[in-house]
Amino acid sequence: MNRDGDDAGITSLGSLERQVVTLANGASVRLRPIVPADAPRLLALCQRLSPHTVYERFFSPRRLRPEDAHALANVDYRRRMALVAEIERGPEPEVIGVARYAPSGEGDIADVALVVEDRWQGLGLGSTLLEELLRAGARRGISRFSADVLTENGRALRLLSRHVDVTDRTTSDGVTSLVFRRRGDPPFSSGAAASADRVGMPAVALGGS
Ligand SMILES: CC(C)(COP(=O)(O)OP(=O)(O)OC[C@H]1O[C@@H](n2cnc3c(N)ncnc32)[C@H](O)[C@@H]1OP(=O)(O)O)[C@@H](O)C(=O)NCCC(=O)NCCS
Repeated sequence: MNRDGDDAGITSLGSLERQVVTLANGASVRLRPIVPADAPRLLALCQRLSPHTVYERFFSPRRLRPEDAHALANVDYRRRMALVAEIERGPEPEVIGVARYAPSGEGDIADVALVVEDRWQGLGLGSTLLEELLRAGARRGISRFSADVLTENGRALRLLSRHVDVTDRTTSDGVTSLVFRRRGDPPFSSGAAASADRVGMPAVALGGS
């Protein structure tokens, strides 16, 4: 086990979902699948989020409890997946963004959620996390996704509209629910893996890690 709490599950992912991206401000940010040892980093991230960002992510002023962070940091890398963005800061890396999907309960649709720490927003990180998450889903045969977004959350809705093909949109009680595919995926593909490398131009420069 390494310092990230790596285990056989994550080692078997190979390097596909590990990369370094350069944001619009020139900062280098590492993207990688989440590991169980990220639980305290998720708690720390949540504590640094503004109330507005917490509300947009969770639709309530809730803050993560340790047991929530533990659950969110433990995924099976198939039906339930999360990517984190981290920077080197002091002795421990700091998680500054997370993108995840999990079964939606509606057939084969995976539900997507995203958050980027306030001071790292507007630099292309949310776009990159979304692209890489959908690419990770495509590699696992997941081609249909959903997301619930506050209807007033124009930034998240714009971000999605720039990167995905929306196939269904409903609004109820101030929440807009979208069903979508990766942009460019064929509408009736049973598994999008074949097209995984055709699409998904990252918003920022990608380099190997
Ligand atoms: C939604 C969210 C994830 C977007 O993350 P982000 O890192 O700010 O996203 P991006 O930087 O890729 O895009 C955001 C804006 O920055 C702009 N931007 C992106 N790259 C840029 C760059 N290189 N230079 C300047 N601007 C840039 C985008 O055009 C976009 O502008 P717009 O809002 O006018 O459309 C983030 O705002 C967030 O965490 N919100 C709270 C949680 C939430 O709403 N989650 C979604 C529902 S689960």
